[in-house]
Formats: sequence, structure tokens, C-alpha cells
Amino acid sequence: MSFTVAIDGPAAAGKGTISKGVAAHFGFAHLDTGLLYRAVGWRTLNGEDPLEAARALVPDDLERGDLRTAEVAQAASRVAVNSDVRSALVTFQREFSRRPGGAVLDGRDIGTVICPSAEVKLYVTASAEIRAERRYLELSAKGSDITREQVLADVRERDTRDADRSTAPMKPAADAVLLDTSDMSVAEALKAALAIVDRALGAVA
Ligand code: C5P
Repeated sequence: MSFTVAIDGPAAAGKGTISKGVAAHFGFAHLDTGLLYRAVGWRTLNGEDPLEAARALVPDDLERGDLRTAEVAQAASRVAVNSDVRSALVTFQREFSRRPGGAVLDGRDIGTVICPSAEVKLYVTASAEIRAERRYLELSAKGSDITREQVLADVRERDTRDADRSTAPMKPAADAVLLDTSDMSVAEALKAALAIVDRALGAVA
């Protein structure tokens, strides 16, 4: 049986933590689709053409240790505007979403474009200031010397680029459940997501 959980939302809203938690709880596979765009962005920073990089992407590219930097995030959001790059990544994501045993995919366009018939659609969000603070703490714990102001500017710039692009803009699917994590702890946000998935699983059982 396939069962797809689509989790979308802006950077640092808590999608990653919620997706991993949902996957672990229900024994589903998890794909962080941002890593696909980051891996393509990383290759372009090394001089490759974005479309060639997207077509040549292999699973090992997602394992690179340096995909989480702010520089790679910006490169990812620039290549993500390109509709040919996006098309080159669709099949891999759709096949992943229908794997037997259940799958969680998180990104920007999972509920709207990649998996419009996902059994569960969540749109996880939080204020830009709170998301930037979370991302700042994450990056500085890893030794980055980026400032709070730079992280907030980066988050805002990516939000605008991701929401305003013409192909697959970041937005909630019409039937997505909205989860604003601004005033929630990680445990509270995960609990809310688990309850939503649990209900949907009950409905298909
Ligand atoms: O989620 P993450 O911050 O790793 O994503 C990096 C960038 O990749 C995003 O800012 C966005 O531009 C792009 N992306 C996308 N569609 C997805 C996942 C990520 O356009 N499904």
C-alpha cells in the first residue's frame, strides 16, 4: 500500500523535524526534496550548467556534507526558478512518493505539483523572524559566523523568490492543513502533525 504525506512550507518552519518525526513514527520513508535543489545548486556553484546538473543528479549527491550552508541555499533557490530543472526532478520525487509502505516528502510544491493526490497535506509555517532565529541557532551551532541579520535577510529573500516564481510557487494546496509553529515547541508541532496523519491513516484503513 502506498500512503503519501506531503509537507510544504518556507525555510526553517519546522518541516524537516516534523517530516523526520512522522516518518520515524509510522515507519515511512522520508525525502527532503530541498536537498535535490541544494545538490543542483551546489553543482552550479562549481561551474556546472543547472539543467545538466539536474539531469545528472545521482542519490550520492544528496549525501554531500556541505549542502546545508546559506550559500548553497541561495544557489538552490536560484536554480529552483528554472522550470526545466524542476521537470528533471519530478519523476524521482513521484516514484519515491508511491513506494510501498508509505512516504513523507517535504518541500515547497509537494502538495500542489508533485503529489496533488497525497493522502495528507500539511503546510508548516512560522513568522520570518522566528524562522530566521531557528536557522541562525542551527548555523552558528555548526560553526558558521553568519549574523542574525544576514540570516533574516536570506530567509526573506528566499521566501520572496520561492513564492513569486511562475513555476510551482511555494503556497499551500487548497486542501492542505495549515500548521503555524511560531508559538509551538518541536514536541507540540510534531504531536499535532502525528494526530493529523493518524486520522488520515484511520480513514484509509
Ligand atoms: O528546504 P530547503 O531550504 O533545503 O530548500 C532549498 C531551496 O530549494 C528552497 O529555497 C527552494 O527554492 C527550493 N525548493 C523548491 N522546491 C522544493 C524544495 C526546495 O523549490 N520542493
